[in-house]
Amino acid sequence: MTDLKEKQERDQWGSKLGFILAAAGSAVGLGNLWKFPYTAGQNGGGVFVLVYLALVLIIGFTLMMAELVLGRHTQLSPVGAYRKLRKKWAWVGFIGVLASYLILTFYSVIGGWIIKYIVTAFQGGFNTTDLGALEGVFTAFISSPVEPLIYHGIFMLMTLAIVMGGISGGIEKFSKILMPGLFIMMIVIMVRSITLPGAMAGVEYLLKPDFSKLNLSVVLAALGQVFFSLSLGMGVIITYGSYLGKNESLPESSFFIPAIDTAVALLAGLTILPAVFALGFDPAGGPGLIFITLPGVFAKMPLGSFFAILFFLLVLFAAVTSSISLLESAVSFFVDELKWNRKAATILLGVLAFVIGVPSSLANGVWGHITFINGLNFFDSMSFFAENLLLPLSGLLLCIFIGWFWGTDKAVAEATNNGKIKFGLAPTWSFIIKWVAPIAIGFILMQSVITLF
Ligand code: PHE
Repeated sequence: MTDLKEKQERDQWGSKLGFILAAAGSAVGLGNLWKFPYTAGQNGGGVFVLVYLALVLIIGFTLMMAELVLGRHTQLSPVGAYRKLRKKWAWVGFIGVLASYLILTFYSVIGGWIIKYIVTAFQGGFNTTDLGALEGVFTAFISSPVEPLIYHGIFMLMTLAIVMGGISGGIEKFSKILMPGLFIMMIVIMVRSITLPGAMAGVEYLLKPDFSKLNLSVVLAALGQVFFSLSLGMGVIITYGSYLGKNESLPESSFFIPAIDTAVALLAGLTILPAVFALGFDPAGGPGLIFITLPGVFAKMPLGSFFAILFFLLVLFAAVTSSISLLESAVSFFVDELKWNRKAATILLGVLAFVIGVPSSLANGVWGHITFINGLNFFDSMSFFAENLLLPLSGLLLCIFIGWFWGTDKAVAEATNNGKIKFGLAPTWSFIIKWVAPIAIGFILMQSVITLF
């Protein structure tokens, strides 16, 4: 009886499209627009893209479906979901929650940079293509001690405010308008970028793999990026799956979400890197890439300031739909498991995430010389710990759990609504989740662990 009542009270997505766009809203964020282009730039361009695509196909789709299955089957968020199926596994759900929370702390710092750029665009600040000047502006901003912290605080407050009110109605409506808007905008800016003189070198850099640049660290970076960008290994997709109706097709959703996410990442790459080449910048320039080269592109566009405002606003929205899912993951843990009041949990966790983010912000300037893991500053250490250790660990355990403990037959039954939906790839999926994915993820996780010593 209580079970039935719980089910009735639990929110569900309004439509299939709404769900896919909301999940894509969590997936599409700074990972695609900010991180993908510069990570590709640092890891050999085309060869990184190729490895990335291969990993999305093999691991991304598989884990996406595994998380959706787990969430919808149990109708619970991660810790509860694992516990319901096997009591002893509840802590695995917790790894994901921890990972998403740690990511939130520095995600918000970058989110703050985006807000700063919206303000700059409003002030008409994008009127030069001189990269030295653009780089100077960016570096001066992120390395200053106080200003980035204010923007970091504003971003966190926005996230906190949305999560505090509950998100079920809002997220879906918001994403339905936002995602197509972002997509169209990206195409417009990409066209400008690839038609700049000299831009073709960038297109080639991104699409023509140079296999001499293939090495283990490229694969490592690509897998970390797959997890980060698809919101995998963090319990977010499990939670979103728990709001799914029983007649949706999980194989179909597991295809569309990564497809949309990857399309946006490629679009972002094709926007940023051609501009990098056209304006004579270093593709391996790192996290500043979008902040330094895009303003240069806007300066070369008619109505540049207008496009700049619109673009960074859309990036901000994309970042917020991701950050709320990051915070929601920890909040729902406090509410469901520790029985906290939602408002109190949100405020406490939001404020704490801001505080933990402070050293990440300062690591770009005054605290840049203080190193933690592998000689990395605080910001990079947090990112390494969460993305290269916690996410693969949680993904590996997910595969082992479904493949070897709960059983792929039960998972496939859930995914296909007990055989009502045709899923010809079921044997392939089962084989990947039992063998290919755990071996590949385990190997890469080991490499990350080895670099610690
Ligand atoms: N996938 C998001 C991005 O690419 C980040 C994110 C990770 C959001 C995990 C939620 C959960 O920006």
